[in-house]
Amino acid sequence: MMDPIQELYNAQAYPAMSHPLADPSVSGVAAMFAGLRVRHPSGARILEIGCGSGHHLIPLAQRWPGSRLSGIDLAASAIRTARELAVAAGVENVEFQIADLRDFADAGEPFDFIIAHGFFSWVPDEVKAALFGFCRRNLAPEGMATISFNLESGWLPRFPVIAKTRAIQQAGAVEVMAALAILRTVTVSDSPEMAIIDDMLAKGPEILPFDDFAPVNDPWSLERFVGAARAAGLRWLGESDPGMNEEGLQTFRSAVLCRDDAPMEGWISWEVLERIFVRAGDFPGVPGSLWQTIAAAAPTCLAVAELSALLPDMTRQDLGTQLLEGIRQGWFLPRMEAVKYDSIPPERPILDRFRLDCARRGLPLVDIWHRPCAFPARHYEVLARMDGTRDQASLKAFAKSHCPELDFNPWLRHLASRGLFS
Ligand SMILES: C[S@@+](CC[C@H](N)C(=O)[O-])C[C@H]1O[C@@H](n2cnc3c(N)ncnc32)[C@H](O)[C@@H]1O
Repeated sequence: MMDPIQELYNAQAYPAMSHPLADPSVSGVAAMFAGLRVRHPSGARILEIGCGSGHHLIPLAQRWPGSRLSGIDLAASAIRTARELAVAAGVENVEFQIADLRDFADAGEPFDFIIAHGFFSWVPDEVKAALFGFCRRNLAPEGMATISFNLESGWLPRFPVIAKTRAIQQAGAVEVMAALAILRTVTVSDSPEMAIIDDMLAKGPEILPFDDFAPVNDPWSLERFVGAARAAGLRWLGESDPGMNEEGLQTFRSAVLCRDDAPMEGWISWEVLERIFVRAGDFPGVPGSLWQTIAAAAPTCLAVAELSALLPDMTRQDLGTQLLEGIRQGWFLPRMEAVKYDSIPPERPILDRFRLDCARRGLPLVDIWHRPCAFPARHYEVLARMDGTRDQASLKAFAKSHCPELDFNPWLRHLASRGLFS
């Protein structure tokens, strides 16, 4: 018999998404900062648990042809789509399996990266325990896991709204969106509850059954998560985004873990910093020559190893201190590898095979930073014609006839600035 989670994910497709914080080249920096000697993901074994339709894993497989990637998921329909997308993308270093984590056999060879994004808080306790146990047994000695979870402090105010909405649903046998609309009419405007209702309505019927109204939605405190991981033999290394390490009222965390017997190095050394790359975050401007130098390289990133030469007046000590502070503040976004691309639209815009296939299916396109870009339905029709055979003028003419509201030239520049063109 199917359990309610399996039934839900087989009946309705979970929205396809990629997750920048679960990109090993991003979360790997957090582990390096904690003292783990992380393997470079370009030649690694990577497993995603609860991979859905593969939207996260396929672009990583494209980026790292020397890696071997696997994804497992309970939902047969999601795995079918993932396999189709991988074939259309032409990637051969990723495989997808239908499997319940509880029955999934240990791997013969350990993984350098295990990813479970949007998984932990949406599964029963026995699956949570199976996840920690699997990671402990199947991570390489210097491997790392990125496990996101919902944070109790941010979720607590949402539960009364969920309970009231469910009560309205039961009383009137209405859909969740209709019940929320009813609840809205009896809620004080400008109240915190009203803001939550509006947020839920904005998520819409594609997301809500998997999110606020999922069969299991079990947010934990950070302390509880770290304690349970420790009891399972895993060490918490911090957040994937070092700017999120302080616990606040967020609803979400992306935790980085390793085995409790992993060999750890001490305090962050210059040798560790020298192996990373940084780009400017979305800030209007931060004083100082370090910010100016990194921002000048936008939209691409700079190797920290190059910064000493670009800023000869700064000592390594100052550079390191300012860099770490800027990363903690979110001014600089670190990653384990360089990203170079042309941010000017080509005369004949061309999307790679995966993006083109996604455009044809109306799925979000994953940008060069692994962020999903979603578009209104008709804009996908313009994107689906970007196969390199048409020039800008012909695409513009098509866009004008199909979606007159689209301001084509700035849109094209925006696509290029996100590194969407090959
Ligand atoms: C909220 S979705 C997240 C999908 C994707 N990781 C993401 O974040 O976009 C959770 C996924 O976990 C899968 N799942 C739930 N329980 C599972 C289990 N016991 N074993 C394997 N997959 C499971 C579901 O089928 C679903 O695809």
